[in-house]
Amino acid sequence: MENFDVCVLGGGPAGYVGALKSAINGLSVAIIEKDRFGGTCLNRGCIPTKILYSKAKYLSRLKAPERGFIVGEFSFNYGEIIDYKDEVVLTLTGGVEKLLKARKVKIFYGSGRVVGSNDNDFRLGITLNEYSADKNIEETQISAKNIIIATGSSPLMISSFNIDHKSVITSDEALSLREIPESLIIIGGGVIGCEFANIFSEFGSNVKIIELLPSILSTEDVEISRFIRKAFKSRNIDMLNGAEVGSIVPAPANGKGKAAVTLKSGEIFEADKVIVSIGRRLNTSGLGLEDIGIKTNERGRISIDSRNETNIKGAYACGDIIDGPMLAHKASFDGIIAADNIAGINREKNYDVLPRSIYTNPPIGTVGLKEGDDGLSSDYNTGRFSYAANGMALAMEEKEGFLKVLVEENSKKIIGATGVGADVPELIAEIASHMHYGGTIFDIESTIHSHPTLSEIVPESALDSIGEAIHKFNSRAAKKH
Ligand code: NAI
Repeated sequence: MENFDVCVLGGGPAGYVGALKSAINGLSVAIIEKDRFGGTCLNRGCIPTKILYSKAKYLSRLKAPERGFIVGEFSFNYGEIIDYKDEVVLTLTGGVEKLLKARKVKIFYGSGRVVGSNDNDFRLGITLNEYSADKNIEETQISAKNIIIATGSSPLMISSFNIDHKSVITSDEALSLREIPESLIIIGGGVIGCEFANIFSEFGSNVKIIELLPSILSTEDVEISRFIRKAFKSRNIDMLNGAEVGSIVPAPANGKGKAAVTLKSGEIFEADKVIVSIGRRLNTSGLGLEDIGIKTNERGRISIDSRNETNIKGAYACGDIIDGPMLAHKASFDGIIAADNIAGINREKNYDVLPRSIYTNPPIGTVGLKEGDDGLSSDYNTGRFSYAANGMALAMEEKEGFLKVLVEENSKKIIGATGVGADVPELIAEIASHMHYGGTIFDIESTIHSHPTLSEIVPESALDSIGEAIHKFNSRAAKKH
């Protein structure tokens, strides 16, 4: 039986990065993946949605061209956009495979599970599939001194929602529709629901979001969710908040008629397609983890320590299956932490500075604490700067939006930031760097920002927290909290 230093189960952003980092650290590595590399992020998540987002944004510019332009008749071929998306996805997933091969990571295409362990190593069984190069072998076993479990998550299904993957679909199928549905109901106004509402409404669908809580994007800063609600409203996206779905009936199989969503209140809404985006479930069953004693926590996620090691020595877990937000970059970070600890480079993780982005139009970016968070002490000030006062934003005709920073009262350290506006995730990246190094608003001020750039919004909003923003008429020492 072939033996490796590390075997990685799952080739998404946590797993493939963990495998590459382990190989960079000089260890012998195997990776087991049943699909194409890249996991949800590359195949069914971040990247394909951003391609559609980008096309939708282009379309919005054609519909409302910049001043001085007259756009004549135009149309789009959505099927071709989907073809382009598939090509990009193939390029990127193929790129990951090439990277793994270049680092001499041994690839097993198939379903893997842990079939045994002793003090020295883990034994893994693999049912090889059609992607496997060796068509003569269906089943194989390998052993490894360490394992990294990184099997990710899938859309959450509820039986009464009757997801038939045709008219009642998840985000997976929503990315492969070749025609824009005339009417679309989205169940769940979280991150996925809002990103799809943005895309499909731009392409012409009549979109209704049904959200259980009092607002869409309820986990975001209240000003941000209010901003997006207003933007969605202006684009005729209907939002039914505080509404609980009882059941969904798919459209009849003959293709005539619509899917029907019945609320607990008894109201019924119909649409050509219904996307269910109410969260995700963990891909942890059938992996043999319980058999070797790997523990899960009260939320059902795999318990790990600050080094990403489970309660079983040598078994590490990363990505969506452990605590923390289900984000690709957090998953990749987990993979690096696990790989380094396996290689004996002692590293503890910390998610305090974890930026995230939501691609509505305009997009949202956030890092660190936000107002209303439990971990926020009362001694902080806020600074704020509007896109409308930034020269580059006006040059780009992107004057909608703002950036808000949270600053610790005494130390003047940045403890969080959130914003909505063109390219705001890139501005958040700068703030994340300052936060990583424990930077203050004066560190931001001392960092020279190129002019004209949107990045000038960062020092202006930081200095506004002490009333010293240069290009703001009413910049005053912010209210003390
Ligand atoms: P989510 O947790 O963000 O949102 C689900 C929404 O559905 C919540 O607002 C919830 O109140 C609502 N909901 C739950 N049950 C409902 C019901 N029965 N009827 C109506 N509404 C209901 O989950 P989502 O959007 O599925 O995303 C899953 C994960 O993927 C998230 O953890 C997110 O962080 C991640 N993700 C991140 C992206 C990004 O960072 N840009 C993009 C896409 C996903």
